[in-house]
Amino acid sequence: MSSTSFDTIGDASAPLEATEISGDQSHRFLMEGYEFGRHRFEKHRTDAFRTRLLGRPVTFLRGAGAAEFFYGADRFTRVGAMPRSVLHSLQDEGSVQTLDFDPHRRRRAIFLDVLGETRREALTSLVSEEWELRWRSLRESAEPLSLIQTSGQVLTDTALRWLGIECTPEERRRLAAEFLAMIDGAGSFGPRNWHGRLLRLRTERWARELVRFRRTNGSETTDSPFDRILQHREEGTPLDERTAAIELLNLLRPTVAVSRFVGFAGLALHLHPSWRERVASDDRWLLPFTEEVRRTAPFFPAIGGRAIGTQYWRGLTFAPGDWVMVDLFATHRDARRWNDPDRFDPGRFVPHPVEGLVPQGAGSMTDGHRCPGEPATIDLLAVLVRALARAEWTAPSQDLRVDLRRLPALPGRHGMLIQPSA
Ligand code: HEM
Repeated sequence: MSSTSFDTIGDASAPLEATEISGDQSHRFLMEGYEFGRHRFEKHRTDAFRTRLLGRPVTFLRGAGAAEFFYGADRFTRVGAMPRSVLHSLQDEGSVQTLDFDPHRRRRAIFLDVLGETRREALTSLVSEEWELRWRSLRESAEPLSLIQTSGQVLTDTALRWLGIECTPEERRRLAAEFLAMIDGAGSFGPRNWHGRLLRLRTERWARELVRFRRTNGSETTDSPFDRILQHREEGTPLDERTAAIELLNLLRPTVAVSRFVGFAGLALHLHPSWRERVASDDRWLLPFTEEVRRTAPFFPAIGGRAIGTQYWRGLTFAPGDWVMVDLFATHRDARRWNDPDRFDPGRFVPHPVEGLVPQGAGSMTDGHRCPGEPATIDLLAVLVRALARAEWTAPSQDLRVDLRRLPALPGRHGMLIQPSA
C-alpha cells in the first residue's frame, strides 16, 4: 500500500487508501487475537485495510483521528455490528448502546446524569471503604488471591451500595461471580461464552425482579442511581421492566469490569517496583500511571459499527450498512504516536492530558457512544491503584505472560495472583 497513507499521521485531512486483504480472515482473527489488526497495519504500512470477517466485508481503521470520526454522533450504529455472542454477554438488545438519534440521546441522559461529578464522588469514597474492609479481612490469608476476583468483589459491593441496592453477602458473592464470568466470556466463542450468556439470563432475571419489587412497593423515590433509572421517562413513559433491568446492569457490569484494569495495574506494579514506590508515595503519579494502564491493558481490541447513511472520511467512502472496526489495540501500540509503544511508561502522560488515548471510545460525551463511565473508571482505578501500591503484598510464582490471543486477555494465567503479607 502507498506509504503516503502511513506517513501522514497528524495530517487529519490527508487522503487515505484502504489496502485490500483478500480472503475471509475470521480464522486468522481468532488465531492472532489482539494483534490481528496491528500485524496488518504494520505489514501493509497503512491505517486502513479492507477484508472479510465472518463472511462479511469490513474495514479496519487505526488512529485517534479514525476514532474521532467513528464516534461522531449518528455516524455508525452498533446494531448488527458485533457478533450476537459478544452483544449478549456484554450489552443487551434494547440497551442504550443499541439506540441511535434522539432515542439514544434521551436514554444516554440517565448515564451522563448518574455518572456526573457528584455521584462519582460517592462512588470513589465507597470503593475506598469497601477495599479497606476487604483488605483487612484478607490480609491474614494464607492462600494467594486473584486480583481480578478480589477487586471484582470489591467493585460489585461498591456498585450495589452506590446504586442503593441491598443484598445478602451470598447474593453479592453470586453476583460478583456472574459479572466476572460474563465479562470473561464476552470475547470468546464456545463454552466460555455460553457460560457467560447463561449467567447473563440469570442476572437479568434478578434485575427484573428488583425493578418489579421497587415499583410495586412504590419506593422508587430516592435520588439513588437505581431510582434515577426508574424515574426516567421517554415521551412521558417509564422504561419497561426489562429495559430498566438492562440499564441497571449497564451500570453494574461495567463497574465490575474495571477489575480487569486493576489486574493489569497489579501486574505493572509488580513488574515495575520503582513505579510502585512512586505511586505509593506521590499522588501526582497516580493519573499518569492509571492512564498508562488504560493504554497498555488489552481489553476491547476494537469497536465495530455499521454506517448510518453515506459517510466520508479522508477520501474513504462508507455506504449505508458498511461495517467498520476501529482498532483500539493497534491505535495504542502505534510506534509513530507512542515512543516504544510496548514499554510501560507512565511518564509519557506527563504533562496530562495527552491526545490519542481511546480505550473507552472518543468524541463528545453528550452525543455518540463514547463510554459515559470513563471518568468513573479513572476515579475507581486511581483509588484502587493507590491502595494497592501502598498495601503489603508480593506476587507468588506464577505464569505472568499475557496471552494476546485470548479475548479478553488476562494479566497472567490466573488474573494476577497476589499474596498479602500482614
Ligand atoms: C473497564 C472499564 C471500561 C471500559 C474499557 C469501557 C469501554 C467502553 C467502550 C469502548 C464503550 C463504547 C462502545 C461503543 O462505541 O459501542 C463503552 C460504552 C459504554 N460504557 Fe463503558 N467502559 C468501561 C467502564 C464503564 C463504566 C464504569 C460504566 C458505567 C458505570 C460504563 C458504561 C458504559 C455504557 C452505558 C456505554 C454505552 C454508551 C452508549 O452507547 O451511549 N462503562 N464503554
